[in-house]
Amino acid sequence: MQVGFIGIGLMGQPMAQRLLESGVLLTVHNRTPGKLEGLKEKGAAIAPTPTALIHDCDCIILMLTNAAAVREILLSDTNRAYLIGKTVIQMSTIAPSESRVICDEVVAAGGEYLEAPVLGSIPEATAGKLIVMVGGAIEQFETYQPILSHFGSNVRLIGGVGTASALKLALNQLIGSLTSAFATSLSFVQQEGVDVEQFMEILRGSALYAPTFDKKLQRMLDQNYTNPNFPTKHLAKDMKLFQAEAESLGLNIHMPAAVNQILLEAINRGFAEEDYCALFAVMNQTSK
Ligand SMILES: NC(=O)c1ccc[n+]([C@@H]2O[C@H](COP(=O)([O-])OP(=O)(O)OC[C@H]3O[C@@H](n4cnc5c(N)ncnc54)[C@H](OP(=O)(O)O)[C@@H]3O)[C@@H](O)[C@H]2O)c1
Repeated sequence: MQVGFIGIGLMGQPMAQRLLESGVLLTVHNRTPGKLEGLKEKGAAIAPTPTALIHDCDCIILMLTNAAAVREILLSDTNRAYLIGKTVIQMSTIAPSESRVICDEVVAAGGEYLEAPVLGSIPEATAGKLIVMVGGAIEQFETYQPILSHFGSNVRLIGGVGTASALKLALNQLIGSLTSAFATSLSFVQQEGVDVEQFMEILRGSALYAPTFDKKLQRMLDQNYTNPNFPTKHLAKDMKLFQAEAESLGLNIHMPAAVNQILLEAINRGFAEEDYCALFAVMNQTSK
């Protein structure tokens, strides 16, 4: 089976590399072709356009910024015509409602569609330790689990299309909320003159602790948000998607709305491309 991979960004790069290292016959495409050099050296075929890749491959994996990019790549008039008999595995983080509509359009064009968003970031993608959540039919899951297992051994069928995207957004809502909550308490203890290590020792021994706090602590203390694994702009995208989907379900959206406001302030202060823990700079107004 010839596998195609479109979207060689922060996550796509190590994920495509995992496929190559596992012996998968891989064709890659990226809007900015300069990012393909390393993969070409490792044996990937390069498709000059998305159309060429869809034409040449049986299974097309997408790891793009958002649903607009997915639609642009997949559902142009030209590319729709090439989807007959092809399977699309959509791995970008998009909303469940967006995923269901794209699925319907791919199926109407004669293709198959499943979603497989991931939990984990660049280190987990590099090590093949992503958690892969699949939304699709059980037969599709059984067919494509071997390919997806190159990204991580924990590949799970969540339910039909939309369910895995919903679960992914629920998890990313926790990234935004937990990090905002931690940044708020950290700023508070600092301003009150409480020793940060004492705060952390008590927190670590309590039921309130989440490992992500220690992952981000040093960056926050150093006000170092460079070299992001997950940039602020992407967390903001996911929190906005969560808020919109939750609102359409009639849920209370006070919490995601507050986190979205914090992320907007972080972006307005120039942290869009930096690590999302830069939201600490918004909570702790004395920093950068
Ligand atoms: N980073 C993480 O830790 C992480 C973890 C889990 C899930 N995700 C999700 O995975 C997806 C990719 O994230 P990432 O961190 O790899 O982002 P990224 O580095 O910004 O990569 C985005 C990719 O999408 C391509 N792209 C964007 N708009 C396009 C368009 N209109 N047409 C064609 N190509 C387009 C970019 O091409 P160019 O190179 O030409 O810009 C790039 O290849 C996002 O949905 C993100 O939320 C990220």
